[in-house]
Amino acid sequence: MVGRRSSEKRETTTIYAGAGLLIERRILRPQVTKMVKAIIAPSMLSSDFANLASEAERMLNCGADWLHMDIMKALHFVPNLTLGAPIIESLRKHTKAYLDCHLMVTNPLDYVEPLGKAGASGFTFHVEASRDNWQELVQKIKSKGMKPGVSLKPGTPIEEVYPLLDGENSVELVLVMTVEPGFGGQKFMPEMMDKVRTLRKKYPSLDIEVDGGLGPSTIEAATSAGANCIVAGSSVFGAPDPAQVITLLRVSVEEAQKRS
Ligand code: DX5
Ligand code: ZN
Repeated sequence: MVGRRSSEKRETTTIYAGAGLLIERRILRPQVTKMVKAIIAPSMLSSDFANLASEAERMLNCGADWLHMDIMKALHFVPNLTLGAPIIESLRKHTKAYLDCHLMVTNPLDYVEPLGKAGASGFTFHVEASRDNWQELVQKIKSKGMKPGVSLKPGTPIEEVYPLLDGENSVELVLVMTVEPGFGGQKFMPEMMDKVRTLRKKYPSLDIEVDGGLGPSTIEAATSAGANCIVAGSSVFGAPDPAQVITLLRVSVEEAQKRS
């Protein structure tokens, strides 16, 4: 999501003031700089699944922008099994929130139709699972009205996502995994920030999402590298005051943008 920051740029111009008189006049010209919006997405993987609708509402009341939904298929990409289209469909009946679906499956194409019908908002697939068919995948995701995103595991080089950003049918978000996908509550991998820095330099207005181990003690590394979408599970749900953590994450994105 791209916002616009307006600042004023001072310039001078010389104008003719009659009788052979030239004077210098100061003019103020607005300068528009593209900037990405801070998006905080609590990972519902850390919520109480038995009370998903009220957990979603609680997060939105705490200031969440998106709800991050981890769709995992056990032994097909990750060792864990979480939720699928029927649960997204049920949740959609209770909320209008942006449902940011992160597909950790080997065959993401099979999920586009059911998730589109279920009411998913974003569909982020893994580059490792779509090397042969990402173009078809992106096209289909868009045709179902969802925002296409691509994610990459810690071991995958950033260059792998460039073709998905540069050509036709490009993705609109890159999710840089900062843990091995599969479980919440793992340790943040700071070495992944080189990927974020490289991406931000190349794509100033791209939504760059980070996922895994994000919280008050690690957010600074991610935002100063250029991440603007922050997924946080255990640090938000495990906090006595989740709203305070969400605010802290947002302020960190905004402050980093002011510095850049
Ligand atoms: C891990 C998932 C994450 C996870 C993050 O594979 O993609 O979304 O829920 O949880 P935390 O913030 O606890 O690391
Ligand atoms: Zn995730």
